Order: sequence, then C-alpha cells, then structure tokens
Amino acid sequence: MFVTFEGIEGSGKSSVLRAVQKHLEETGREVLLTREPGGSRIGRELRKLLLDIESTDLTGPSELFLYLADRAQHVSTVIRPAVEAGKIVISDRYADSTVAYQGYGRGLDPKQLHSFNDVAVSGMWPDLTLLFDLPAEVGLGRAVSRNMQEQKCDTEGRFEAESLNFHNTVREGYLTLAALHRKRFRIVDASQPLEAVVADAIAIIEAKLAGDDSEAEAPDF
Ligand code: TMP
Repeated sequence: MFVTFEGIEGSGKSSVLRAVQKHLEETGREVLLTREPGGSRIGRELRKLLLDIESTDLTGPSELFLYLADRAQHVSTVIRPAVEAGKIVISDRYADSTVAYQGYGRGLDPKQLHSFNDVAVSGMWPDLTLLFDLPAEVGLGRAVSRNMQEQKCDTEGRFEAESLNFHNTVREGYLTLAALHRKRFRIVDASQPLEAVVADAIAIIEAKLAGDDSEAEAPDF
C-alpha cells in the first residue's frame, strides 16, 4: 500500500508520520518512510537546491521541473521497489504538493500539472492521501519557530518566508484537491493536540488496510 501525507507548513505531518510508523511496525507491518523532495540519493541533492534560502533566482518552471525530476527518481528507485516488495510506503509529501504549491500557490495551471505528475509518477498514484488541515497562520507560526530551534539560525526556510496569503492559497488548493479526489483523500483536523491527530491518522490507515472504503462513496476523477 502507498500512502501520502500532505499539508501546509507546520501541520505536524512529519511528527505524526513517525508515530504512525511505530504503530504499524508494532503491529507487525513492514513500513518504509520516505519524503519529497529528497527521498532518493539524487533527490537529496535536488532538495538542497530547492529549499536553499539562497535559491532566489530559481524560476517558477525550473522549480517545477526539479520537483518533478525528484519525483520520477523517487518513484523508480525507492517507492515502486518497496511497494512491490509488499511494504507499506508512506511519503511525507508527493504529487499533490506540486498542484497545491506550484499550481494553486504559484499560479501554474493545476490541470497541466496533473498531466506532468502523471508522467513523473508513471502509474504510482497513492492508494490513500491524508491531508493534515489547519489554518495557515497556526501552521506558519509553528513552522517558523521549529526552523529556528532545529537549524539554530535566525532565518526562515524558503517556503516559510512566503506570505500568509500564499499559504492560505495553498491550503485552499489542498481542500479543492481533496474535494475533487474524494475516494483517495481523507482530511485530518491538524489543529487538534498531536495525540488526537495521530489517533485519527492511525484509524484512517487501519480502515484502509482492512479494506473499509465506506467513507469513499463518491467517484474519483
Ligand atoms: P518540507 O518537506 O520540509 O515540508 O519542505 C518541502 C517544501 O517544498 C514545502 O514547503 C513544500 C514544497 N514543495 C513544493 O513546493 N512542491 C512539491 O512538489 C513538493 C514535494 C514540495
């Protein structure tokens, strides 16, 4: 099974991811945690370029194609082999991030991005996508203070430095995507305390593993 976690900055998805991994492994499942950008060897080089605060001269289309290159490499060298080996693969961000950030956020055409994504993922669409949703001002506040603690520096990352308006647009983009792809998406209220967010995420994944698709009556398109 292939699961993706999506959400704006500071939605807490990376902490939830580790708790979910622990739960799945304790219940006997083999899990591979990965992320975008940077889930493969080449991807780690691309991640440096993409997230470097110095990359101010990166043009919109270049940024897009670097994310897509990262994805194509990630799918063929990491995700597909692990899914084929029977593991549960969970990726912290994937194709929907491109539509939310480069599409809704930066103003590129979401439909065109979907076609580009189709090439990059080459059939490897997620079975399940959890959207960790919360107001942009809450997420951004968390992300900026985390960056300053972890990196022990007084600057924000390249995306955290974007305006609140940008992050609001990205959030709205994600909610639009979740409404369009109701069969694949589940929305988790990420403004709850971490334990409650983890419990919701585990319940959704367990339901999917048990083959319970009862919430997904609407057609996917
Ligand atoms: P993160 O993994 O630390 O959340 O940082 C990744 C950043 O890259 C985040 O701000 C979202 C952004 N991003 C895109 O803009 N497009 C993409 O396709 C992906 C995967 C990430």
